[in-house]
Amino acid sequence: MKELVIAPSILSLDYSRTSEQLKELDESNAKWMHFDVMDGHFVPNLTFGPDLLKGFKKAVDMVMDVHIMVDNPDMVAEIFAKAGADVITFHLEAVKDVDACIQLCRKIREMGVQAGVSVKPKTSVDALLAHLKEMDLVLIMSVEPGFGGQSFMEDTLEKVRILRERIEKEGLNTRIEIDGGINGETAKLAVAAGVDTLVAGSYVFKNGIAESVDKLLACQR
Ligand code: DX5
Ligand code: ZN
Repeated sequence: MKELVIAPSILSLDYSRTSEQLKELDESNAKWMHFDVMDGHFVPNLTFGPDLLKGFKKAVDMVMDVHIMVDNPDMVAEIFAKAGADVITFHLEAVKDVDACIQLCRKIREMGVQAGVSVKPKTSVDALLAHLKEMDLVLIMSVEPGFGGQSFMEDTLEKVRILRERIEKEGLNTRIEIDGGINGETAKLAVAAGVDTLVAGSYVFKNGIAESVDKLLACQR
């Protein structure tokens, strides 16, 4: 399995101390920054635009992992590719069907960005299994998307196991990321199920950035 990557979600950053927190993040052992884009439509919350991504990219040396929770992923993916995203993950629920999902993955890759597909807790991954080679990452939501600080839904790990089995069987490079309710305990369950990329928002920003990132990294199996 791949080396475990920690992607702190800046949804939980303390914006009254932005530069201080970005510096701490940059100096921590987290290699990715998870950047949640919400449109107030696909999810009942609103967040960040491309200019903030550009600014953060200047402030830190991290992989920009952009999770777009929007109804128009086609247009939004283009905007964030131009703004410097390294990974763009859109939602399967936001596209018409699997064909449209694959088309968008290809388009994202053609823009020089890694393509990710996310599913909400109640959405199956079965439709994706035959097409994993088109995806650099699959993001399993372990809470309903929209807000930080919710409790981890353990039953979503079944999808991680199914994906891990298929990825190993086919010798693919696709990463499995999990997002929602990750802390020092739930991270262990996720890694044991086959996750190689952990998103964590409130856990990292409420407990000291460097220390919590290291605690999550210690869950590597
Ligand atoms: C929720 C976002 C998450 C969120 C996770 O819709 O996609 O990235 O920041 O926050 P925690 O880790 O606090 O559950
Ligand atoms: Zn997210």
